[in-house]
Amino acid sequence: MPAWIVVGTQWGDEGKGKATDLLADDVDYVVRYQGGNNAGHTIIVGDTTLKLHLVPSGVMYSDVTPVIGDGVVLDPGVLLDELDALVEQGLDVSNLKISGNAHLIMPYHRELDRVTERYLGRQKLGTTKRGIGPTYADKAARVGMRVQDLYDMKIFRQKLDVVLKEKNATLSRVYNRLPMKAADIETEYAVYAERLRPYIADTMSLLHDALEDGRNVLLEGAQGTLLDLDHGTYPFVTSSNPVAGGALTGAGLGPKHVDRVIGITKAYVTRVGSGPFPTELHDAIGERMTDVGQEYGTTTGRRRRVGWFDAVVARYAARVNGLTEHFLTKLDVLSAFGTLKVCRAYRYQGEEYDHFPPHQSIFHHATPVYEEVSGWNDDITGVTQFAQLPKEAQAYVDRLEELAGVPIRWVSVGPKRSQTLERAA
Ligand code: GDP
Ligand code: IMO
Ligand code: MG
Repeated sequence: MPAWIVVGTQWGDEGKGKATDLLADDVDYVVRYQGGNNAGHTIIVGDTTLKLHLVPSGVMYSDVTPVIGDGVVLDPGVLLDELDALVEQGLDVSNLKISGNAHLIMPYHRELDRVTERYLGRQKLGTTKRGIGPTYADKAARVGMRVQDLYDMKIFRQKLDVVLKEKNATLSRVYNRLPMKAADIETEYAVYAERLRPYIADTMSLLHDALEDGRNVLLEGAQGTLLDLDHGTYPFVTSSNPVAGGALTGAGLGPKHVDRVIGITKAYVTRVGSGPFPTELHDAIGERMTDVGQEYGTTTGRRRRVGWFDAVVARYAARVNGLTEHFLTKLDVLSAFGTLKVCRAYRYQGEEYDHFPPHQSIFHHATPVYEEVSGWNDDITGVTQFAQLPKEAQAYVDRLEELAGVPIRWVSVGPKRSQTLERAA
C-alpha cells in the first residue's frame, strides 16, 4: 500500500493539523518527517482541542501509530511536556515511535537562536527561537547530537565536550553570554533518555515493514513550501525541507512508495515572521481577516500577517511538490468580505509573471495582478455538501482550482473534523 504526503503549500499554518487528523482516519501510521517544535498544529475534535508541536497529528486515533522520523529535530524536554499534556487530556501516547537518527535540540541551540536573532536587529528572520536553525546547522556541519547518542552516555559526553568547546567560545566571546557546563547538560539529558527509552525505534524499517504489509502511511509535513530551505523565500525560511521531497529523506522512503501528495492550502494566505509577501494586506480588510480567521501563532502567539490568495504561489507549490490534489481550508473566513481578490500573476518592471520568479529581487518587488471575485456574505460553517455552498463560494473554489492547476478534493469550512466537504474525484 503506498504512502501519502501532506504538505503545506504556503508559509505554514495552512491547517495541516486539521487535514492530517481527518485523513488519519484511513491510515495506520502518521509520520512527522522534518522540522521540530517550531510547528504548531491545532486540532479540534468534539469538545477537545489539541495543540501539537512535535507529536504527529493523528494521535487522537488509538489505532494510528505516530512516528517522529529521522529528519526531525527534537527537543526532548518539550516533547516530554507535550506527551504529559496529552496524557492529561486522556490520550494514550504509548505507541509513539521516535527515530534514533533524529537530531537533538540542545540548550546552546536555543540560546544561539535567540542571540543571533538579536544580533541581526532589523534584518532578523523572526524565527520561533526554538533552536531549529542552529540544530540543523550542526547536523550539516556533522557536529550534531542525535537521539541515539542518548543511549551511550560515554559517546554523548565525548561529542558534547567537542561541540561545547566551540559553542561556548562563540557564546562568550561573540555574544557575551555565559558558557554552558557539559556536566549539567549531561545530567539533564540522561533523565530525558530514560523517559524517552520506550519510544525509540528503527522507524525506517518499521515503515517499510508496514508498507510491505499493506498498511497506509501518511507523511505529515510541518511549515510550508515557501519556508523550505531550498525552495522557499530564502533566507526567510526554516532550516529543513517541508516539500514533498523532504518527506522521503526525512522518513527513509523512496519515490515509488508515494502515490498521493496532498497540498494543504488556505483560501487566503498568512505568514509569521519576516520576509516578502506580495499579496499582504496592510489595511482594514487585513485587520478583519486576522480577527475573523483568528490568525495568531499556535507556537509563539504572534499575530500572523495576512493577504489575498496567491495563485502564483499555489502553482509553484503544485510543481515543486508534485501535488496530486489540494485540501482547501478556512473558506468560511472569507464569508466576512463582500468582494474577494485573487492574485493570478505578478507584475515587475512592466512584465507579467505567471510563475514564481527565478530571482529574489523580482519576488521582493513584485506587485500582484488581481482579479476580483464576488463574495457570498453567508455563514457556510454548517454546510455539509459542496453543492450546498452559495454559488459564489463554489465559483471561488472552482476558480482557485483552475488557477492552481490541481484538483481541490476537500474544502474546509470550520476548524472541526466534521466541517469538511469532500468533492467528487
Ligand atoms: P497548521 O500549522 O498548518 O497545522 O495550522 P495551524 O493549526 O497552526 O493553524 C490553522 C488554524 O486554523 C487552527 O487554529 C485550526 O483550528 C484552524 N482551522 C483549520 N481549518 C479551518 C477552517 O476551515 N476554518 C476555520 N475557521 N478555522 C480552521
Ligand atoms: P507550522 O507547522 C508558520 C517560520 C518562523 C520564521 C521562519 C524561521 O505550524 O505551519 P524557525 O524557528 O523555523 O527557524 O523560523 O519560519 N515558521 C513558521 N511559520 N508556521 C510554522 O509551522 C512555522 N515554523 C517556522 O515564523 O519566519
Ligand atoms: Mg501552525
